[in-house]
Amino acid sequence: MNTTINKPITKEQAIDYEDKYGAHNYHPLPVVLSKGKGVYVWDVDDKKYFDFLSAYSAVNQGHSHPKIIAALKEQAERLALTSRAFYNDKLGPYEKFATEYFGFDKLLPMNTGAEAVETAIKLARKWAYEKKAIPENEANIIVAKGNFHGRTTTIISFSNDPEAREHFGPYTPGFSKIPYNDLDALEETMKNTPNTIAFLVEPIQGEAGVFVPDEGYLKGAKAICEKYGALFIADEVQTGIARTGKLLAVDHENVKPDILILGKAMSGGVYPVSAVLANDDIMLSIKPGQHGSTFGGNPIAANVAIAALSVIKNEKLADNAEKMGKIFREEMQKVVDNSKFVKKVRGKGLLNAVLINDTEESETAWNICLKLAENGLLAKPTHGNIIRFAPPLVINEEQMREAIDIIKKSIAEYEQKNI
Ligand SMILES: Cc1ncc(COP(=O)(O)O)c(C=O)c1O
Repeated sequence: MNTTINKPITKEQAIDYEDKYGAHNYHPLPVVLSKGKGVYVWDVDDKKYFDFLSAYSAVNQGHSHPKIIAALKEQAERLALTSRAFYNDKLGPYEKFATEYFGFDKLLPMNTGAEAVETAIKLARKWAYEKKAIPENEANIIVAKGNFHGRTTTIISFSNDPEAREHFGPYTPGFSKIPYNDLDALEETMKNTPNTIAFLVEPIQGEAGVFVPDEGYLKGAKAICEKYGALFIADEVQTGIARTGKLLAVDHENVKPDILILGKAMSGGVYPVSAVLANDDIMLSIKPGQHGSTFGGNPIAANVAIAALSVIKNEKLADNAEKMGKIFREEMQKVVDNSKFVKKVRGKGLLNAVLINDTEESETAWNICLKLAENGLLAKPTHGNIIRFAPPLVINEEQMREAIDIIKKSIAEYEQKNI
């Protein structure tokens, strides 16, 4: 049997193979990457790019961080997987480390962000049926319109993105959708929807186009949850782990969620690691046999996550995200001020988006991303008119200014040709 493993492959072959043998559930930019280091990635022709997507904020610590790779290799050579049928010598220390790190009593380990969101939903429901005597099958969770929490059937049931939902029904009941950044709507719905047990929210809506809510929104939402005895569940899969300039995005408003959902950068992007954190009164609602995952909490994940979280603190990546993000927005604001074409820049820390003066359905953002790639920077549209810019948090000022020059140049070139 022929195998292509380790054989060099051309850009055209790689794209053809994915097209022919892979499901068509993504529409990637036509670049074929084969190497990464820090803030850079290289394609199969050895062209170097700034990575301004960071695998949707999973690679906060930079590509192939030596400390994280060392933890991965060391553990892979020693013990990879035991399942939770047995104890292993890495999970306990990791749970101790991560709960102290984030300030919760307990952690439930999973692998992907969507699994962690599912876990949080199950946990909230279990807690509510057992602690609040909610009638069986009546628990309701409030979510925000424009949300993105993953791709499972339950999660897409409360999405309002037609692409994510259409022809994937029947949908899971038990969710109410309210406008994002609207505390009145939250209070009204809490008051008028019986058996509401929780509010599940992204502190900044990432996939929707980096929507930053008004200051006070998270604090206000938590207070409303407290008033009605509901849980405040923060999905920090994308915003967490220093991305927005603080360890967690909720830290900007000093809010402590009842349930915290993390993923992506928990491993620095080298391994699927996600987690749900909560205090004992909530977490102990789930008993042995009631939830789990073959891979969740495996020794590699545990060892890698300790290394990845240590890098965040040791290298002060939250502070760097805050500083570099300010430079990015200041420079992009200059572009906005001098352009009819670029409408707005928004974001926090190093989770930012630039809005183009065009429709959501247009190809403009895609075409600008092609231009950016040509000029040596990779980014991806979140909509036809919105480009997210989220580099690894290890980016330094010189690299940031060089990247900004590429973005300015690319936008100017596109504008000149098309306007
Ligand atoms: C806020 C949020 N929650 C959950 C997810 C799902 O994570 P995963 O793709 O690892 O399932 C994402 C992914 O982008 C996300 O941004």
